[in-house]
Amino acid sequence: MIQALVLLLLAGSRVTGTNTNPRLKLSFHDLRGRHGLRTYELERSCCYDSLLLDEERGRLFVGGKNYLASLSLDNISKQDKKIYWPAPVEWREECNWAGKDINAECMNFVKILHLYNRTHLYACGTGAFHPICGFVEVGQRVEDAVFKLDFKSLEDGKGKSPYDPRHMAASVFAGEELYSGVATDLMGRDFTIFRSLGSRPSIRTEQHDSRWLNEPKFVDVFWIPESENPDDDKIFFFFRETAVEGSQGLGKQTFARIGQICRNDMGGQRSLVNKWTTFLKARLVCAVQGSDGSDTYFDQLRDVFLLPTREKRNPLLYAVFTTSSTVFKGSAVCVYHMNDIRRAFLGPFAHKEGPNYQWVSFQGRVPYPRPGMCPSKTFGTFSSTKDFPDDVIQFARNHPLMYNPVLPHGQKPVFLQTNVGYSFTRIAVDRVAAADGHYDVLFIGTDVGTVLKVVSVPKETWQNMEELLLEELQVFKDPTPVTSIQISSKRQQLYVGSRTAISQLPLHRCGIYGKACAECCLARDPYCAWDGTSCTRYMHNTKRRFRRQDVRNGDPSTLCSGDPQRNSVQEKKLYGVEGSSAFLECLPKSLQAQIMWTYQKTSSAPWKEVLWDDRVIKMERGVLLRSVQRKDAGLYHCQATEHGFTQNLLHLRLEVINAQQAETISLSWEEEPTQPFHRKLWYQDFLQLVDHPNLSTMDQVCEQLWSRKNQQPKRKPLLPPPLSVKAKNHKWKYLEEKKRARSRRTHEVPRSERGPRSTDFW
Ligand SMILES: *[C@@H]1O[C@H](CO)[C@@H](O)[C@H](O)[C@H]1NC(C)=O
Ligand SMILES: *[C@@H]1O[C@H](CO)[C@@H](O)[C@H](O)[C@H]1NC(C)=O
Ligand SMILES: *[C@@H]1O[C@H](CO)[C@@H](O)[C@H](O)[C@H]1NC(C)=O
Repeated sequence: MIQALVLLLLAGSRVTGTNTNPRLKLSFHDLRGRHGLRTYELERSCCYDSLLLDEERGRLFVGGKNYLASLSLDNISKQDKKIYWPAPVEWREECNWAGKDINAECMNFVKILHLYNRTHLYACGTGAFHPICGFVEVGQRVEDAVFKLDFKSLEDGKGKSPYDPRHMAASVFAGEELYSGVATDLMGRDFTIFRSLGSRPSIRTEQHDSRWLNEPKFVDVFWIPESENPDDDKIFFFFRETAVEGSQGLGKQTFARIGQICRNDMGGQRSLVNKWTTFLKARLVCAVQGSDGSDTYFDQLRDVFLLPTREKRNPLLYAVFTTSSTVFKGSAVCVYHMNDIRRAFLGPFAHKEGPNYQWVSFQGRVPYPRPGMCPSKTFGTFSSTKDFPDDVIQFARNHPLMYNPVLPHGQKPVFLQTNVGYSFTRIAVDRVAAADGHYDVLFIGTDVGTVLKVVSVPKETWQNMEELLLEELQVFKDPTPVTSIQISSKRQQLYVGSRTAISQLPLHRCGIYGKACAECCLARDPYCAWDGTSCTRYMHNTKRRFRRQDVRNGDPSTLCSGDPQRNSVQEKKLYGVEGSSAFLECLPKSLQAQIMWTYQKTSSAPWKEVLWDDRVIKMERGVLLRSVQRKDAGLYHCQATEHGFTQNLLHLRLEVINAQQAETISLSWEEEPTQPFHRKLWYQDFLQLVDHPNLSTMDQVCEQLWSRKNQQPKRKPLLPPPLSVKAKNHKWKYLEEKKRARSRRTHEVPRSERGPRSTDFW
């Protein structure tokens, strides 16, 4: 046990994620104020776990606590319709007698929402530990504007919705039949994969057989055709469970699984009556190899997104995982191909001879038709599972588990984050047509209310991919876990649900990358291209000239060479007071850019790289010069290098004046009766704060300073002196310069606006 722990620790330290810094970070206020984020919340409700996107009607259907809602896909903040759907009082009381919290758990949490037919949805709720389902009329056309729960249609939701609002359930409609993975009892001990509704008899998994299901948590279900023949259609279940075959001595181990059943399974004739005869499952592996060859597994399957491709039977499956380990924290996204999944189900069966034996690969004779095959004309002569020979049924009952796991595409995660203080919860993927090919853009929800926008680009070949974390978007006011994500490629919008709210935001914000061709190019966002004057949405099929995009290489020197180079970086001036501090601020647009500072003492002197020491400190947002000296005066250049491309961001001339001069000035400011200005104090505070080890950025320094100032009611805020007074005095000119320099370092500019504010680069 201890040894294993140590191994895990070691493995953890060696596993390094992709670049953990997003290229851009956008706050909730930024997104709401400037980038079209809209939010929705229902009064006296919560927990928007189920979102259903309906492109045709242009609606987003939402399930929450005691409510169903229908929102406009164009703007979720307007035109909402809602249905109040509480649990009956008797059920709530029963629930309470069973020891559950009447206000937290004994409510109707709507967990399941499906499109049913052209006029109705099917919805299920926990009904205060008394699952319930029913039809919701939504009308055929947009104009119908109906949204009505048919209370007469309400029926028992056992085997469809969980009892407990904390439990997960997953389901899919295939025709008129609902396939669910869910707990079917109040205690949450009897789990099943269950077929209900429709006209055929209900079918379930073998009960109380840990080889079939062992404390599973169902994550997603998909209906995927196997061939042209619908008789071969299969339903695939994604879940995680306690592994029966886990390594001995490691305690309970969770494995991620994929399970399959045939859509035309009718159960057995003499045994496995009304039970699946085609159920098989395999381990789903998502792991990384440490430098010593040992693997770190991500076993906690959280979410799966099915990305359709041109071939209906071969969609891509994007899955999100986290680790089970309490020692090593990490999240990963792995992609699975149907061929690899099918290969595992065609491989050897896992076999255990008896209680004291190990799980091995079954070497004996597998009966015909091979368990897991659907009865159809494609692969055999059987027309129903009821005709399967007894030995097939017996074998199927005892061998639900495959020996070989399913490995992800490329044998490793496509995206990985370790030790970042959050984990992934949900995923949605958009396939984007760009100038040089198709790119899958991943939108990954986290447990801290953010969405990561990630794109995989080929490094040298299309086999060797590199992941770019383009954006980290704070889509909720509070750091609440993302519980659902829906994507509309048609409307280019993302819809995100959590416990507290639903947010809607566009898939791209091209303008934010900057006002130059090179900046647009460096962003490598497949949604965006340079159109000759600005960075805008790239549309693949429009034949506009001057559309420049290079997601693959992100190389502005070739792409933007014909572009008018706005290379004249304006020079700015900053005054430093000898013995005090000065801050040279330079913010690149990209958080992934490397900043280099160079310095020239006089115009004839050579350029030198700025050297860092205790006094000259490189900070996140610029350079801090503590105790400015005369020799610091000169010209400073700030250059950003990203992806091998360098651009000038700022030229700054620092002039140094002595403390005495500064003293006179500060006195003259304080003499000003209407606007007391405590310049000296400001510098003192500043220095003190800078010595504070906990404040790493200039913003924090200044925020602290401001909040302290504001707590002192007698003092007015730091305002510049009125210009009319002594305006002709040369001192004032100097002060003006100085004031500007200072406010540059502090608050005048919204923090979101990365990069030097003026149009002075390029
Ligand atoms: C969305 O609707 C709300 C409420 O009607 C409105 O205040 C807001 O401006 C709309 N937003 C957009 C982007 O249309
Ligand atoms: C859809 O299903 C509901 C519930 O069974 C039924 O009342 C309705 O007539 C159906 N609509 C269509 C268009 O078949
Ligand atoms: C500085 O940060 C550390 C760790 O985050 C914290 O324990 C400590 O209390 C902080 N000190 C001050 C003065 O805020």
